[in-house]
Amino acid sequence: MKEKLLEIRASALDAAAAAQDEASIEKVRIDYLGKKGALTAILRGMGALSAQERPVIGQLANEVRTAIEAALSERGGQLKAQALDRRLAAEKLDVTAPGRKPAVGQRHPLAKVEAELCEIFTGMGFDIVEGPEVEYDKYNFEKLNIPKNHPARDTQDTFYITENILLRSQTSPVQVRTMEQRKPPIRIISPGRVYRSDAVDATHSPVFHQLEGLVVDRGITMGDLKGMLEYFAEKLFGEGTRLRFRPHHFPFTEPSAEVDVSCFVCGGKGCRVCKGEGWIEILGAGMVHPSVLAGCDIDPDVYSGFAFGLGIERIVMRKYNINDMRLLYENDLRFLRQF
Ligand code: PHE
Repeated sequence: MKEKLLEIRASALDAAAAAQDEASIEKVRIDYLGKKGALTAILRGMGALSAQERPVIGQLANEVRTAIEAALSERGGQLKAQALDRRLAAEKLDVTAPGRKPAVGQRHPLAKVEAELCEIFTGMGFDIVEGPEVEYDKYNFEKLNIPKNHPARDTQDTFYITENILLRSQTSPVQVRTMEQRKPPIRIISPGRVYRSDAVDATHSPVFHQLEGLVVDRGITMGDLKGMLEYFAEKLFGEGTRLRFRPHHFPFTEPSAEVDVSCFVCGGKGCRVCKGEGWIEILGAGMVHPSVLAGCDIDPDVYSGFAFGLGIERIVMRKYNINDMRLLYENDLRFLRQF
């Protein structure tokens, strides 16, 4: 029995040393120390031994068990260390290598200026309202005092989808939609895309962006419009910016004006940016026409309002001195990264 135990020890230690992974270590453990293992079988047979032999063999069996357990845990430790070494070698990290900078995008200049405009107006208490780009003729024209065959339609070369549905040529239909849904006091802006069938050149694009503003309440006057726009212009172009109102015609406002700001580069003396004029046109505005109010069930004898609309591209181009509108749509990163 002693020889048998020594044999078991020798072969178990060999098997442990030869194990190449966790699973084979476990197999050796089961083969020798498990319930049906070789060593366990010997221990079971101990009952047949004489009283003198039993403690001697028992002690040896315990030593063999301890030796096998030690061999298994040593080999297990070695395998773990080897595996770690392999992983460390494979995942070697050179901390002195220069880092790779993640490419961070940035806002498009149009989005940037739109956000800036929205912030100025929401700061004055305006809500932002959006309207559909595919619009009814009724909202884009008719309820804005521009009936069919009105000559004002010619100034906004329009993409028609059907006779009554079109791509909105201005953000003004949002005025009408808002006045139909909300009752005064109304104070909203509406930024968004508009469409006109213009050929592409340095100052035209069939898709561009406008921002509309509308205020309706009791006792709103042209003075409110002027004061609000003056505050806006100083916020956007800097303190000391002055405004110039030139009489104009829009069918949905009366009186109407085109509004210029004093050139923010030369302050009004005349330079390359303002083409020597000292003034830069930025928006159209006026007092909401009484029949537009009445058409939305707002009594023009009780309420009055003003509206304005500006082209965001124009402001971006003036602000950043960009001389060709096409640059804003080509998405050339060399251009976009400059903002
Ligand atoms: N909708 C006009 C345009 O596109 C601008 C405008 C808006 C004028 C509001 C007056 C009031 O030309």
